[in-house]
Amino acid sequence: MTDLAIAANGLRKSYGDKLVLDGVDLAVPEGTIFSLLGPNGAGKTTAVKILSTLVGADAGEIRIGGHDLATAPQAVRAAIGVTGQFSAVDGLITGEENMLLMADLHHLSKREGRRVAAELLERFDLTEAAKKPASTYSGGMKRRLDIAMTLVGDPRIIFLDEPTTGLDPRSRHNMWQIIRELVSDGVTVFLTTQYLEEADELADRIAVLNDGRIAAEGTAEELKRLIPGGHVRLRFTDPAAYRSATGAFPGASGDDDSLSLRIPSDGSQRELRSLLDRLDSAGVEADELTVHTPDLDDVFFALTGSKVPAQPAQAMRPTVPNQPA
Ligand SMILES: Nc1ncnc2c1ncn2[C@@H]1O[C@H](COP(=O)(O)OP(=O)(O)OP(=O)(O)O)[C@@H](O)[C@H]1O
Ligand SMILES: [Mg+2]
Repeated sequence: MTDLAIAANGLRKSYGDKLVLDGVDLAVPEGTIFSLLGPNGAGKTTAVKILSTLVGADAGEIRIGGHDLATAPQAVRAAIGVTGQFSAVDGLITGEENMLLMADLHHLSKREGRRVAAELLERFDLTEAAKKPASTYSGGMKRRLDIAMTLVGDPRIIFLDEPTTGLDPRSRHNMWQIIRELVSDGVTVFLTTQYLEEADELADRIAVLNDGRIAAEGTAEELKRLIPGGHVRLRFTDPAAYRSATGAFPGASGDDDSLSLRIPSDGSQRELRSLLDRLDSAGVEADELTVHTPDLDDVFFALTGSKVPAQPAQAMRPTVPNQPA
């Protein structure tokens, strides 16, 4: 079994009479990316703040990098880096000065601080802007500086609270690349995001936070299988073949105009094999076979009970349920 970088059991937190976290369990193996998803106000930032010792929990056991957060918060702080939802960059000083300030906070010597700052500024493509006030940086540059500052202490576990919110697609992809590189160096990343695509793209495991509890947890693929809507679509050019296939799959819904058949399926290898076997026994060959799994948006809306936004009219789009399956 891999060691856990982050382990939390029965995490609870209220603000006044508002219950924000109602018994949350988390387990993040070392060297992996874990993504916490949830609608606005679900408690993602609260969870990050608790796990990074910035806010106390009302109840629950937490171990970070093997250290008990309740009894060894200093050891936890030494092991982690946190990039908050809102920038920690001081706009009045330059990017380089922001970095050197962090180096001071980590008690690096002047020489070591300069070396680490220069190296990280280079790595995050900020060398050219290093001597300019951070207030003149674009949103993407500020975000990169934020993460560079987090890395000054060489943390093994990093919390990133919505690292790409407000970034354009190119900057977002650059940030994803940076996050992947961190993990390939063995760093553990705990990431919150509003972008399901981001979790899908990056995370080894995803947890969906809703109403103070983890509504579902798993790989992106596992989460997508949780909700109905997955299907296989067969397309035919020969009407006779289409009719034979319709006979072979009584549970399928057909579209006589496009000669296509929609067969409910979780897209697993087992179901695909049996589907192909049935086509073989019926002696028909489809001209096109496509597997449609629900995307993470579908899962998110199903699990968090959010209103489903209007879908473009499209006959074959997977149906999105309002309620969890
Ligand atoms: N210091 C605080 N005092 C009182 N209530 C708070 C405090 N911090 C957070 N809350 C409340 O706790 C709930 C969860 O907030 P939190 O910031 O953790 O949500 P979030 O999932 O990070 O949301 P977002 O996606 O908008 O960042 C919200 O209802 C918020 O109003
Ligand atoms: Mg937040």
